[in-house]
Amino acid sequence: MAANCEQTFIAVKPDGVQRGLIGEIIKRFEQKGFRLVALKFQQASKDLLKKHYSDLKDRPFYNGLVEYMCSGPVAAMVWEGLNVVKTGRVMLGETNPADSKPGTIRGDFCIQVGRNIIHGSDSVESAKKEIALWFKPEELCAYKSCAHTWVYED
Ligand code: RTP
Ligand code: MG
Repeated sequence: MAANCEQTFIAVKPDGVQRGLIGEIIKRFEQKGFRLVALKFQQASKDLLKKHYSDLKDRPFYNGLVEYMCSGPVAAMVWEGLNVVKTGRVMLGETNPADSKPGTIRGDFCIQVGRNIIHGSDSVESAKKEIALWFKPEELCAYKSCAHTWVYED
């Protein structure tokens, strides 16, 4: 896979949806130059969310996290681009909004760790797992962005 075809899974959590931040979050990824390849607005099942956060199942906040994540619809997305996993995490800010710098999504729009409005994959490997969990392969759109040569040198 070409380096600029790296993909990450981003989800606006139920609090981000309720607070009307889907557009702002999409805007930030779009204006950076990343390419949207999949988008789904859904009420995720508890089963899906348990699988999504299965790495955290032994943490004391796990049950509360799953309840929070299924408390309303989420906007699930796949974004593509060079180093999109790492850069996406930088754009999100730290897990705890209190440690997130202004200019990051969590730094600008939220206050507490249990209401941190957005999820982003933490590695290329977890991105692959998460994308496969949330999307069918045919839900990812293959298309050429007309901005490509204005975003990348080659
Ligand atoms: P995410 O997976 O949602 O993008 O967040 P993350 O990688 O920055 O952090 P992670 O360690 O994967 O934690 C997942 C989510 O669990 C909630 N959390 N609560 N109460 C707590 O101490 C605590 N720690 C984590 C947050 O909603 C966090 O985003
Ligand atoms: Mg995580």
